[in-house]
Amino acid sequence: MASTALLLLPAMAIHGGITAWCFASDTISASSPISGDRTVVSRGGKFELGFFNPAGGGGSNYYVGIWYKKVVSQRTPVWVANRAAPVADPASSRLAVAADGNLVLTNEAGRLVWSSNVSSASGSNGDAAVAVAVILDTGNLVLRRESGEVLWQSVEHPTDTWLPGARLGMNKITGEVQALVSWKNAGDPAPGMYTLGIDPNGSSQYFTKWNRTVTSWSSGEWKDGVFAGVPEMISHYMYDFEFVSDANASYFTYSQQDPTVISRLVLDVSGQVRQIMWAPSAEWMIIWTEPHRLCDVYAVCGAFGVCNEKSEPYCSCPAGFRPSSAGDWELGDHSHGCRRNNPSRCDGGTNSSVHGDAFLPAPGVSLPINSSSAQASSARDCELACLRSCNCTAYSYGGHCSLWYGGLLNLEDTGGAMDDLLYLRVSAMDVPSSKGRKRTVVFVSIAVVASIILALSIIVFVVVRMYRKRQRSKTFMQAASEGSSLVAFKYGDVRRATKNFSEKLGGGSFGSVYKGTLPGGGVAIAVKKLEGRLCVGEKQFRNEVRTIGVIQHVNLVRLRGFSSRGSERLLVYDHMPNGSLDKALFGGASAVALSWRARFQIVLGAARGLLYLHEGCRDCIIHCDIKPENILLDKDLVPKVADFGLAKLLPRDFSRVLTTVRGTIGYLAPEWISGVPITVKADVYSYGMVLLEIVSGRRNARCWPATEQDPSLSGYFPLVAARKVSQGEALDGLLDERLRGDADPRELERACRVACWCVQDDETRRPTMEQVVQALEGVLAMDVPPVPTSLQALAGRPRFRLSDECA
Ligand SMILES: *[C@@H]1O[C@H](CO)[C@@H](O)[C@H](O)[C@H]1NC(C)=O
Ligand SMILES: *[C@@H]1O[C@H](CO)[C@@H](O)[C@H](O)[C@H]1NC(C)=O
Ligand SMILES: *[C@@H]1O[C@H](CO)[C@@H](O)[C@H](O)[C@H]1NC(C)=O
Ligand SMILES: *[C@@H]1O[C@H](CO)[C@@H](O)[C@H](O)[C@H]1NC(C)=O
Ligand SMILES: *[C@@H]1O[C@H](CO)[C@@H](O)[C@H](O)[C@H]1NC(C)=O
Ligand SMILES: *[C@@H]1O[C@H](CO)[C@@H](O)[C@H](O)[C@H]1NC(C)=O
Ligand SMILES: *[C@@H]1O[C@H](CO)[C@@H](O)[C@H](O)[C@H]1NC(C)=O
Repeated sequence: MASTALLLLPAMAIHGGITAWCFASDTISASSPISGDRTVVSRGGKFELGFFNPAGGGGSNYYVGIWYKKVVSQRTPVWVANRAAPVADPASSRLAVAADGNLVLTNEAGRLVWSSNVSSASGSNGDAAVAVAVILDTGNLVLRRESGEVLWQSVEHPTDTWLPGARLGMNKITGEVQALVSWKNAGDPAPGMYTLGIDPNGSSQYFTKWNRTVTSWSSGEWKDGVFAGVPEMISHYMYDFEFVSDANASYFTYSQQDPTVISRLVLDVSGQVRQIMWAPSAEWMIIWTEPHRLCDVYAVCGAFGVCNEKSEPYCSCPAGFRPSSAGDWELGDHSHGCRRNNPSRCDGGTNSSVHGDAFLPAPGVSLPINSSSAQASSARDCELACLRSCNCTAYSYGGHCSLWYGGLLNLEDTGGAMDDLLYLRVSAMDVPSSKGRKRTVVFVSIAVVASIILALSIIVFVVVRMYRKRQRSKTFMQAASEGSSLVAFKYGDVRRATKNFSEKLGGGSFGSVYKGTLPGGGVAIAVKKLEGRLCVGEKQFRNEVRTIGVIQHVNLVRLRGFSSRGSERLLVYDHMPNGSLDKALFGGASAVALSWRARFQIVLGAARGLLYLHEGCRDCIIHCDIKPENILLDKDLVPKVADFGLAKLLPRDFSRVLTTVRGTIGYLAPEWISGVPITVKADVYSYGMVLLEIVSGRRNARCWPATEQDPSLSGYFPLVAARKVSQGEALDGLLDERLRGDADPRELERACRVACWCVQDDETRRPTMEQVVQALEGVLAMDVPPVPTSLQALAGRPRFRLSDECA
């Protein structure tokens, strides 16, 4: 089905070409301007130019832009002319070739809004009027003389998109640079906070800058066919990059290996560089992003904004703060950050807790860098030290006192408990408990009387309520805590059990997860709220949930029940106290220490869970989204695969896109991109990638720096591992160094061999999950696996050598 969709593309291109030739022109001239709804379409029907109104922007702002003609469901501009100067009425605005040969845009009042601004446009013999602007199939708008001489072209003035074939670099003679500048927000193409451009010093690397000054990210230098800082590039061989540096210019350009695919590189509003592809399922799909994590983008949520990768939206304000500019914030522009609900009333005095400022903790937020230390022997002293200085904005006390000054950038909500809490300075009016501290005696006596009356009424109320509640939720409790079959919960009961969805555990590709407790003080549950707009109808939901509900296995997260109201869909699971595998493996200091024994138990358990999904139940289930985030650990570190079957709860084809919406495709098998139908072997591939991460304790996509002992260990980890395994070399170098070599060498060898068989490109060469389990158990002997074809091809290229400088 997907492959047919891909095959259709060339056919559509021919069709589009004929349409363009018959009905639309690709040329703007003095006599045929663009105005109102008139557009020009490139010869092959790939790109269209005209006035547009960005989705989500103010309704009356119009821009001249170029967009994909074939991507009809979402108009996606790749270039904007008047990005900072919208016009209000396209019908009376005109884009035309002016008398001086320039391409100009005039607004409803006839005023010049934008110009190609070429000084030499009017020719020496006054032949300017014969200049024309033509839109090409590469997405380039070219202004040229009749003689063919190019005066100006849009690819040399990119906005936020780098199209295949375009050059992104600098002209060494004029000093002119072609840089990408992000949109201000999702509805406003005006220049935003982030820029991406080549190193002005002439080295072969790119920098993303924030506010034109602070470097947010660098690609690392180009060497042997990869950017040193983007090792995952080599696993996605969709593009061929080329670096050119001569006396006149230095730039990169790239081409697509499959020209029928629609894809682009974009500097997103968030500051991330993204490779995006139009998927056969008619959705934009993110292939990779840099920086890898959204929260690693410099100042991504602005001053005092808190980033949480897993929540949607990913920026929030801490307690006592609100967005400085609510409108921009809603549209994804977080550059203004958060400000205090009430302004600081800094008085520099000791009695400021009454009249001035106070502090609120920011639970789960990691401590920002650049702290100053102060002399303080207790938390209270530290607080006072901060209070005394008006520009001190936060403190933290953990043995010693750290203070922060000015706006805090890059606060991140890690979701876990931090060793040292960060306290943020707020107005005392925003600290609830400090309000009632100083009350006079009169108030106290009134309060005492009042509270006695209140207490009495509460007792009466509680007795009545308990009685009622017991009647009402008898079925709820019995079914939930004792019964083994699936429960259709009342929506209100689930809401109460989760205290009105107040304790968020995290968010996955399908929606947010909240913690709760079943009434009766008993079992902890995790409630998954599926994103409404993505869900199937009520009846299909019930049917699918019932089929998922019968699937029970010790290595699968148990579904206890479900609930739905209106378009909301809830799934109720057992809560897993040790969280997900990614936290345990990559969570840094807060992570659970996983011994080799524990890791091998997880490897085996996850394999058994998947085997059950593939072969144990009546209808075979392809998980589609195996990654460390979807393997949960119970209190004994027994792994439980989560989110299985959820792909079925989504409209057809949507699951394919969802799995990659907020991440990279590091775990996805090559067939996801080539469009071949997906089988259980896609899960096997993802499992292999996860297995490698369990061995190494690091994300595969991260680059391994060179070490002195063993230089062959650096580079893209799956390739490094595959080579070592296939050449029969010692494998202990692959092991997570936190384990200090403490692993059973036979188990390590089995795990590495299995992983390398799992990530073979040809799905028929990958083992089944049954073979995986048997091989891990040592029942089935596995041959030495070959290096997967794609990696082999890469390693064989003369220009490719394992980068030894990727640190
Ligand atoms: C055109 O270029 C000149 C200098 O080359 C500059 O001063 C002017 O602002 C530019 N005008 C527009 C509309 O970009
Ligand atoms: C550019 O080169 C100069 C001198 O070689 C160096 O001082 C400067 O830091 C470099 N700038 C960047 C952005 O690398
Ligand atoms: C960005 O830089 C300009 C000056 O270079 C400065 O005035 C402005 O405050 C900066 N913006 C932010 C959000 O820091
Ligand atoms: C550089 O520009 C000059 C003048 O435009 C041209 O003659 C020369 O061929 C160019 N060099 C390269 C390497 O393109
Ligand atoms: C404490 O507050 C009172 C009343 O606002 C003020 O008069 C006094 O100066 C403050 N003390 C100090 C040390 O700031
Ligand atoms: C930390 O301080 C150093 C030196 O003062 C400065 O260069 C750097 O930009 C600061 N970093 C942040 C995130 O503020
Ligand atoms: C705090 O502000 C004062 C004056 O406004 C300034 O002199 C001092 O350097 C600032 N301290 C810090 C750490 O920024």
